[in-house]
Amino acid sequence: MSLVRKKTIEQSIADTDEPEYQLKKRLTAIDLTVFGIGVIIGAGIFTLTGKAAAQYAGPGIAVSFVLAAICCGLAALCYAEFSSTVPVSGSAYTFSYFSLGEIFAWIIGWDLLLELMLGSSVVAQGWSEYAALFLDQIGISWPSSIGPGSSVNVLAMLLVIALTILATVGIKESLRVNLVLVGIKLFVVLFVIVAGLFYVKGSNLSPFIPASVPSPGGKVELTTPLIQAVLGFTPSTFGVAGLVSGAALVFFAFIGFDVVATTAEEAKNPQRDLPRGIIGSLVICTVLYVLVCIVITGMVKYNEIDPKAALAEAFKSVGKGGFATLISAGAVAGLTTVVLTLMIGAARVVFAMSRDHLLPRQLGKTHPKWGTPYRLTIGIGIVVAIVAGVTPIGKLEEMVNIGTLAAFTLVSIAVPLLRKSRPDIKRSFTVPWNPVIPIVAALICVYLMVNLSVETWIRFLIWMALGFGIYFLYGYKKSRVGLEEKTGEVQKA
Ligand code: ALA
Repeated sequence: MSLVRKKTIEQSIADTDEPEYQLKKRLTAIDLTVFGIGVIIGAGIFTLTGKAAAQYAGPGIAVSFVLAAICCGLAALCYAEFSSTVPVSGSAYTFSYFSLGEIFAWIIGWDLLLELMLGSSVVAQGWSEYAALFLDQIGISWPSSIGPGSSVNVLAMLLVIALTILATVGIKESLRVNLVLVGIKLFVVLFVIVAGLFYVKGSNLSPFIPASVPSPGGKVELTTPLIQAVLGFTPSTFGVAGLVSGAALVFFAFIGFDVVATTAEEAKNPQRDLPRGIIGSLVICTVLYVLVCIVITGMVKYNEIDPKAALAEAFKSVGKGGFATLISAGAVAGLTTVVLTLMIGAARVVFAMSRDHLLPRQLGKTHPKWGTPYRLTIGIGIVVAIVAGVTPIGKLEEMVNIGTLAAFTLVSIAVPLLRKSRPDIKRSFTVPWNPVIPIVAALICVYLMVNLSVETWIRFLIWMALGFGIYFLYGYKKSRVGLEEKTGEVQKA
């Protein structure tokens, strides 16, 4: 039973008053929306769109984006309900601790770390590709022996180190930098849409959903989506199945709105502003994404799209090479904010876990002057820098997706459960049509998960096994809730 021991909501809120673990409350609704857009628009739209259109969905990639957005929108409603009710750092991890119990909280926390830390490393590597390209275009050549694709990607590491310093010194300062970079990023995305519209050819958009074709090789491989491998279908791409595989991949482009909830404790008026920040940033990004997809697949035939730098290459292909420089600059600015925000989110999740003693509690101490959990932030920065710098990451965005989808599934299930167990608490924002919406949200998340590849599932299971190992060897024994449970029993006896 004690595996599902629960923290009370009152305890979660009381924790935020402990002086040594206090975060400063200074973020507004606009700050939160900017924070959201800062983390959502990134490698997903700048790089994955091309890959997903060329390999899975053709011009129908716009539909894949809508599918992924529906999944995220439903999950966002669930996140908004939780974070407006219990504004405590740690997001889904914290929500599940008082609604589902400790073991589920641990699983979600562990999944969120996968999402946020691996996500930062993946995007830092993507950033280094664009940074090298941009430097090259302005006449500075970065030595390829220490650049992207080499055994030590110093460029990506430098970015992570700089951002770690920024995040350690203070979130408000980070948000100011974020604001400028988000402005540049939005400008470039709008530029792609407006300038690109002039080059859209109707013939490129037809057929909108290319007919299904067997995958190269036609056999089940590690890269086959799990659902096709398990149900014994002949592996295929394009067609309707391609739209769903595309959605499971471009889901990456939406990751981050949930990170807004991780900063709950730092919001001035969390009950009102968190739902606004979460849903607002998601809606803005979805509209921009769909427009970018239509423009890019309208400019270049889907089977000729460059899967690495689709946006820049689309303009080169219509003779506008100069625009490519501008787009690379925008990507450099845009991806910077994504890495920064994901790292801050990771620090907040570890912060919440260490406050509950599921991870060593010394990690979570906040700095007396900066008010940030500096030890954690630096530790996470070191891990992300190493992963981004020396591991050859490829296709690992799928790992980030599966971790996030698993967390979304559990958060969605937790909404109706908490309504039942705690009908008394005040909810400033409620998911409509409960329990239908939360259940549909969970089912869509699972459906996208089974559309990810067999190899992603294998890696995910290994990650989970590692997490269970750490929990049973450390967290289960040290847990603060567990300790209180034991001392409570002693007192009763
Ligand atoms: N949504 C973020 C991106 O696309 C993670 O880079």
